[in-house]
Amino acid sequence: MNIIEIINKKRLKMCLSDEEIKYVIDEYMEGNIADYQMSSLLMAICINGMSDEEIFSLTKYMTLSGDRLDLSSLGNVVDKHSTGGVGDKTTMIIGPIVASCGVKVAKMSGRGLGHTGGTIDKLESIPGFTSELSEEEFIRQVNNVGFADVCQNNDLAPADKKIYALRDVTGTVESIPLIASSIMSKKIASGARKLVIDVKVGCGALVKNIEDATKLAELMIKIGKFNNIEVVCVLSNMDIPLGNNIGNALEVEEVIDILKNNKQGNLRDLCIELASLMVSLGLGIDHDEALNRVLENLSNGKAYDKFLEFVKAQKGDITKLPQASNKIEIRSDKEGYLNNIDALKLGELSMSLGAGRSNMKDKIDYTAGIILNKNIFDYVNIGDVLMTIYTNKDNYNIPDDIFDISNTKNNDIKLIYKVMR
Ligand code: URA
Repeated sequence: MNIIEIINKKRLKMCLSDEEIKYVIDEYMEGNIADYQMSSLLMAICINGMSDEEIFSLTKYMTLSGDRLDLSSLGNVVDKHSTGGVGDKTTMIIGPIVASCGVKVAKMSGRGLGHTGGTIDKLESIPGFTSELSEEEFIRQVNNVGFADVCQNNDLAPADKKIYALRDVTGTVESIPLIASSIMSKKIASGARKLVIDVKVGCGALVKNIEDATKLAELMIKIGKFNNIEVVCVLSNMDIPLGNNIGNALEVEEVIDILKNNKQGNLRDLCIELASLMVSLGLGIDHDEALNRVLENLSNGKAYDKFLEFVKAQKGDITKLPQASNKIEIRSDKEGYLNNIDALKLGELSMSLGAGRSNMKDKIDYTAGIILNKNIFDYVNIGDVLMTIYTNKDNYNIPDDIFDISNTKNNDIKLIYKVMR
């Protein structure tokens, strides 16, 4: 077998065999296939796609490239994944809600890159919080508390890590087969048996339209079935940001507001739906019964207590959340209905304020970010504060078309497009 023949096969739209895909992954990991050869193959895959069998093989060999976590001793565990978006702090809310309903959540999360944040950075904005637990500590905490969230282990699906880094710099991220196999190889390696995936759709997400998001969800469900994992996908809106706060410590503040049951809105609504699906999967009860338990634990304080227990177990102190010293209010020069808030532009602004990184080596300012002072469909008067920005930087650029304000109200925005299983 040789890599040039394999690249040519894919260029000519032919299917690669299981052995050929094994060869590619093994030899790339051994350093016997060069980055430029792998990039060429990835581009051919982006253009010509892959059959289901090829995708199952790619997922299998990326999973087998590293360790596999065995969570079977934990019993009733449900995992959750989001394909990433602006202001997405759902894991920090859903984990405690679901755990308080008696379903364990053993979560591995990533750091942020580009305009989307990462849950680990958000959690690490809590002074003292550690995302580095040994496997034994992780399993013990899931058993005792019901929820743990640690930084993705480099030994799980290392082939995905190496290939993802290459995709990131070669224009080969946006391929549905590559995204599906990348996500599912990590989930299989991290021991998931039941999984709810929030597939974000819109300008602030990796997948921009519902057709592609549907294909991605169908594929992840198929990969799940092939590997004996029950997968439920929720297609949710990422044209507008989730909630009002963007930026690490600011997002933790909003998590606390939701868990204290002090705040309504799209973030709370999405978290309730995702948590209900997880509780329903985990306990084998119907959706309405799961929804009742979720709402009850939000209102009786059990979900918030679980959050405090989780943060304490990972050595965080939420009484010492850092605050930015510099805040600037941005006011409206128009009057009318706030019909759109551009998630992508807000994500990029938040990154330029210091809340994110454009390169994995950049340092994050945990206090930087944005609070939206108006919600979608609100009526705005000239001079009203639209958003407050928090930064320690002197140089940043605020685009003037983040907010779409006009005379007629557009009621056309949906939060959840569909649930697929
Ligand atoms: N998230 C992943 O883990 N992999 C991808 O390819 C895209 C998003």
